[in-house]
Amino acid sequence: MTDELLRWREEFPSLKDTVYMVSHSLGAMPRKTREHMAEFTDLWVEKGIVAWEQWLPEVDLAAARIGKILGAPAGTVIMNTNVSTIQAVIASCLDYRARPKVVYSELNFPSVSYVWKAEERRGAEVCVVPSDDGIEVDTGRMIEAIDERTLIVPISHVLFRSSAQKDVKAIVARAKEVGALVLLDCYQSTGTVPFSVEELGVDFACGGSVKWLCGGPGAAYLYVRPDRISEFAPRLTGWFGHRSPFAFTMPEQEYSPSVWRYAGGTPAIAALYQARAGAEMIGEIGVEKIRAKSLRQTARVLARCDGAGYLVNSPRAEARRGGTVCFDFEGADKVAKELNRRRFLCDHRPFSGIRMSPHFYSTDEECDLFMDEVERIRAGK
Ligand SMILES: Cc1ncc(COP(=O)(O)O)c(C=O)c1O
Repeated sequence: MTDELLRWREEFPSLKDTVYMVSHSLGAMPRKTREHMAEFTDLWVEKGIVAWEQWLPEVDLAAARIGKILGAPAGTVIMNTNVSTIQAVIASCLDYRARPKVVYSELNFPSVSYVWKAEERRGAEVCVVPSDDGIEVDTGRMIEAIDERTLIVPISHVLFRSSAQKDVKAIVARAKEVGALVLLDCYQSTGTVPFSVEELGVDFACGGSVKWLCGGPGAAYLYVRPDRISEFAPRLTGWFGHRSPFAFTMPEQEYSPSVWRYAGGTPAIAALYQARAGAEMIGEIGVEKIRAKSLRQTARVLARCDGAGYLVNSPRAEARRGGTVCFDFEGADKVAKELNRRRFLCDHRPFSGIRMSPHFYSTDEECDLFMDEVERIRAGK
């Protein structure tokens, strides 16, 4: 069977001398990213201040590229620098007096939890739903925790620890029933698991470009459901959130009617150039195709884990797993270090073990080579 996605391999120079299995953490850099970064610096050196004429539109262009992957309507995505800041922007929209409860699971990305726990100083009551096995969080338990006192449910779509998928639709349905908001962190799904924010019905969604989207750091995105855009006035704000930033009016913020009202200070333009090539490529390929290949290759890796008797810390059912396989054994942290030294790129996390992820540019043979190398290192070779 020919793997048509392998034609993209030549776009990624680092694949020549690595077995690249760490796209859940940092996607491989596209060849074109160098050109795009040069475009950014050339504009600066050649045009000086006039570079802004091209730099500023890049914010909406970057948002549109990501919006296409998210299934978001035009004008509903704004860029920011990272997910933690975006969560803080949304938190700053909220008033906990009537409804204090914030519900999420203990398998959320910790940085996101730090933001919401800090909201307790402003009256929030954080309810962290426990997981029994450290892999998944029971949907029924999430639903039970979401009640009439719940203001917002900031959940991860695919969990960073185990690559398990949450049943977002069921959680959204419950949130709607009681009038709570849902903020979806789709960092670990965008680019590897197909979905549409519109179809899921979430109020907000966010993520970054560093992982499956093969961009660099600093190009995170926030989607706001169109009918919600004008409903909120973030306290964490800045002049680019103003309806007319260059009017320099004082002293109050006058929020933009568009999704820009969720922007803050000067946008991190260089990061958007870094993120362009990856987002363009994934938009062109389409996430459906990437997912079909990912399911095939992760099944191959899972079979190798079972053959070797490793503890698998990811779900096995196709509908419940993301793009990463997490597996563990005694001394896995040291093996991960040695794998990286040998240019078999992966990472290791507490409670997860080794996390490895083939992406659209990976070959089946590389999946096998990776698992062979794990065995070789364990055998002291
Ligand atoms: C699910 C998830 N959310 C958030 C983050 C990171 O957030 P930030 O952009 O604030 O670094 C990660 C990164 O590892 C992640 O996996």
